[in-house]
Amino acid sequence: MSKLTVRDIEVGGKRVLVRVDFNVPLDEAGAIMDDGRIRAALPTIEYLIGRGARLILCSHLGRPDGGVVEGLRLAVVARRLSQLIGRPVATTRDCIGPEVEAAVAGLKDEDVLLLENLRFHPEEEKNDAAFAQALAKLADIYVDDAFGTAHRAHASVVGVTRYLPAVSGLLLEQEMINLGRILKDPPRPLAALLGGAKVSDKVGMIENIMAKVDYILVGGGMAATFLKAKAYRIGKSLLEADRVATAAELLARAEKSGVTLMLPLDVVVTGEITPEAEGSVVSIEGIPDDRRIVDIGPETIKSFQGALAKCQAVFWNGPMGIYEIPQFAQGTKALARFLAGLEATTVIGGGSTADAVAEMGLADRMSFVSTGGGASLDFLSGKVLPGIEVLPDKEA
Ligand code: 3PG
Repeated sequence: MSKLTVRDIEVGGKRVLVRVDFNVPLDEAGAIMDDGRIRAALPTIEYLIGRGARLILCSHLGRPDGGVVEGLRLAVVARRLSQLIGRPVATTRDCIGPEVEAAVAGLKDEDVLLLENLRFHPEEEKNDAAFAQALAKLADIYVDDAFGTAHRAHASVVGVTRYLPAVSGLLLEQEMINLGRILKDPPRPLAALLGGAKVSDKVGMIENIMAKVDYILVGGGMAATFLKAKAYRIGKSLLEADRVATAAELLARAEKSGVTLMLPLDVVVTGEITPEAEGSVVSIEGIPDDRRIVDIGPETIKSFQGALAKCQAVFWNGPMGIYEIPQFAQGTKALARFLAGLEATTVIGGGSTADAVAEMGLADRMSFVSTGGGASLDFLSGKVLPGIEVLPDKEA
């Protein structure tokens, strides 16, 4: 069901608390490596500025465990946001308290303030009522635009909605529409291209989409557990021994449901995983006992591309190999380029898949790139995300 959004309310002259997900990757020097999540929040931010609201943005950054971590202050994000919107973005040294209240009192229409990292307070992750109230007290309206954090029942996501009128932002709305389409009436044929290290992270999602997809293509580290379930020797590859039976069940269910579940035909293997390691391509029948799978091979790339070419829609979550090591990133790169050129709806899951697509400069050539890692997986698993559940429905 669709949620009330910023478009449904009057915001002019109001103090609007906007929960964004500015949890961007930082390099060792503390510089932003990918500003995708900041850019993704611009439609809501610019909409509110355009209507004369007073913006109070709040976010977490990293996992500071409830204490102040100097390297996780949001000032670096404020500077980037200021460049993107071409106006000053003020900051505070905390996210609640007298200094913040004074800064908010000084805001004029169209001003933008970014509060300090919410997770410097342990109460944020505990969904503490007093902390939620202290945040709510800063504003007249609450807008949730943090899809990446919608699976967390935290104070700035859930608790705060008890004390302020709440609506969805435009990014959160887009995420619900685009990911929702995968679950409900997707264009067919539909393929789910799945990778990443673990089967266990994806079981719920695979089970939930089984009835909606035509193809499931499995690469990445998780392919090893599926290959084991089909009695292949997988050498020293990452294996989730307690998930072999689950993988076997998923293979059987796919067959029963008429879903084509494709596994690698060949893989790149190596001895040790180091930046200098060299890989060699072997058939899945010939994986040496002292080697481990680190990427899909050329035959697999070709067979996956053949299936994807037949599809009207593709959902992709998880790299096909160890993307961080260039010589083991070829499968991921080849399929990213292929999807970018495909005349089909292409929806990219957040987290490492979105990072890979952004790093290759292909994000604009996909139909939609989700900003949610864990949140997009939970959404596609059919779970109710607490941050979405608490927002009022349009019909209400
Ligand atoms: C994410 O990066 O997936 C979100 O910002 C949530 O972060 P978390 O996993 O630390 O809660």
